[in-house]
Amino acid sequence: MPPAFVPLGRRARDVRLPDERLEVRAVGKYFHTPDGSFEALHDISFGAAAGEFVAIVGASGCGKSTLLRIIAGLESLSSGAVLVDQRAIAGPDRDRAMVFQDYSLYPWLTVLGNIRFSQRLRANGRDRRGADAGGAAERSLLLLELMGLQRVRDAYPNELSGGMRQRVAIARALLNQPELLLMDEPFGALDAQTREVMHDLILHIVAFERRTIVFVTHDVEEAVYLADRVIVLAPGPGHVDSIWATELPPAAERTQEMKRAPEFLVIERRILDRIRATSGVQKDLDALHRLTRGSTAA
Ligand SMILES: Nc1ncnc2c1ncn2[C@@H]1O[C@H](COP(=O)(O)OP(=O)(O)OP(=O)(O)O)[C@@H](O)[C@H]1O
Ligand SMILES: [Mg+2]
Repeated sequence: MPPAFVPLGRRARDVRLPDERLEVRAVGKYFHTPDGSFEALHDISFGAAAGEFVAIVGASGCGKSTLLRIIAGLESLSSGAVLVDQRAIAGPDRDRAMVFQDYSLYPWLTVLGNIRFSQRLRANGRDRRGADAGGAAERSLLLLELMGLQRVRDAYPNELSGGMRQRVAIARALLNQPELLLMDEPFGALDAQTREVMHDLILHIVAFERRTIVFVTHDVEEAVYLADRVIVLAPGPGHVDSIWATELPPAAERTQEMKRAPEFLVIERRILDRIRATSGVQKDLDALHRLTRGSTAA
């Protein structure tokens, strides 16, 4: 029997959601290089409701990482605004946590030490609250359990597999209960089987922790499986091409089998087609044909 979910592939342009946790409002970005100004992002607008999982896909170089870094407050914007709970952000803050592709763990700290690292920073800084620190210690142990990392809690990053390292990075990001979890190709370096395990783990976290997630990936299947909505960015300069509502069942009810259902494959195909149509690859193929014709003629 096919998995029971509503036929999907609805293109959801300009959908305004109630209870928006994140609002990206007409964001533009120029990079100033010795060769002149380069417009990387143009008039990007979208939102994410509390508890929503938004995936961003698009051709390489279209500005996905730049956009995520702007939302994290790690990169300045040239125009527009990013609002979290209706307040414009001004740099990085505890309400947003980022997970990168390359794990970025501290090699001199154990698994538990890495998970608790940001808490240590806070304890040393102005934000010192005893009850808070106690709660975080307990929470770090719960996250260790949730991520299946108890056995390696005292191990160092170089003793871990890639999947384990990424679970540590996710646990660390979740420790301070950020409003927004920002992930830039977090599973890009993992093998296919480990990715599947990580996908179900992330859906598990979404179901239990109710975090709002913005997730950048080049893997459209991953985006459709994990997200409530998929945003396709197109390059030249980076802009929103289309926004897709995946209309899958809630996170806790998704299964790997759904990836093979016709409804799933239809939306995956449509999104891939949009990426292909906007990526410039076709133009490159045309150039290749001209090149080949040129060399044959010669
Ligand atoms: N610090 C910078 N200075 C100048 N240009 C930059 C800088 N960072 C990024 N860019 C340019 O901005 C554009 C978008 O880069 P970005 O890394 O955001 O793309 P991406 O969509 O994440 O690509 P990929 O899928 O390959 O990771 C690219 O053309 C890149 O060369
Ligand atoms: Mg990138």
